[in-house]
Amino acid sequence: MIYDNVTQVIKDTPIINASNTVKRLGLDGNLYVKLEYLLPGGSKKDRIALNIINKAHERGVLAPSQPIVELTSGNTGIALAIVCKQTGHPFTAVMSAGNSMERVKMIKALGAEVVLVPQAEDSIKGKVSGKDLALAEEEAKRICTQTGAFMASQFDNLDNPLAHMADTAEEIYAQTEGKIDAFADFIGTGGSCAGICMGLKNKNKNILCYGVEPQNASYYADKEYHGAHIIQGGGYYREISFFENIKHLFDGFINVSDEETINLCRILSSEDSIFAGFSTGANAAAAAKLLAGPLKGKNIIILANDTGLKYMSTALWDV
Ligand SMILES: Cc1ncc(COP(=O)(O)O)c(C=O)c1O
Repeated sequence: MIYDNVTQVIKDTPIINASNTVKRLGLDGNLYVKLEYLLPGGSKKDRIALNIINKAHERGVLAPSQPIVELTSGNTGIALAIVCKQTGHPFTAVMSAGNSMERVKMIKALGAEVVLVPQAEDSIKGKVSGKDLALAEEEAKRICTQTGAFMASQFDNLDNPLAHMADTAEEIYAQTEGKIDAFADFIGTGGSCAGICMGLKNKNKNILCYGVEPQNASYYADKEYHGAHIIQGGGYYREISFFENIKHLFDGFINVSDEETINLCRILSSEDSIFAGFSTGANAAAAAKLLAGPLKGKNIIILANDTGLKYMSTALWDV
């Protein structure tokens, strides 16, 4: 089969049983990992970029070749750069300077423009805080107003969670033949967490769904903010618009520390050859807590959100 362009392969990622990781941790049960990093942009965000643009075209709110702008931690920028190029839209990614430089280089290489917004004065270099994100958001809005661009608005656009509800959750349920007990997911915009939760609960309301947050910035678990964390792609300590209506569907929120996150990234890599980024380690750390406690012996599914190659300049792989 030969495809016309890469947007046609934004689907159908495989699921791996990370049995060596489970064994190494001395746990009982199964940890299934869906390799979203195998999508063309190297992350799950390809799915939402495609859905946001397709749906905006269908609704007539996005004109042919209209410029697109987005506030992004990197992966949505990469995904939009790919989808915009293939659908004929000029794209500008607005990012906090606190994100890893691999992503900036990749967005530029994919033919898009990048605007880097300096971090807030009290932020830690390389750790994007809620304040940093607010500064980047302000700049993205300013550029949109100035240029008449369409803003993808991943934080508020329902086509973000709906992409995961329609596709990712369907794939998970079909690939596992419904034999899963729980799903745990790190929260950034909350798109995959909310969308997959809704999709899986529609199939079987007994599948348990958990949001995952950094221990230092857990907004939904306990409204505790103790400062920066290392998990790029989320943990912004802010209200998620999608969550407000569906919060009751969740069975809990789990906190993970930076150390637990890095440890699980390294174990997934060395034991099961799953070379993924920080937030995948956060997902796996949360799943490990469930398997060690209330969900001993059960089947838990997580996403491998992006590839570890995007973090070569960080301390993640200083092993
Ligand atoms: C690597 C990574 N992990 C997790 C997330 C959070 O995903 P979501 O925005 O669907 O909550 C993102 C979002 O950009 C990400 O890039």
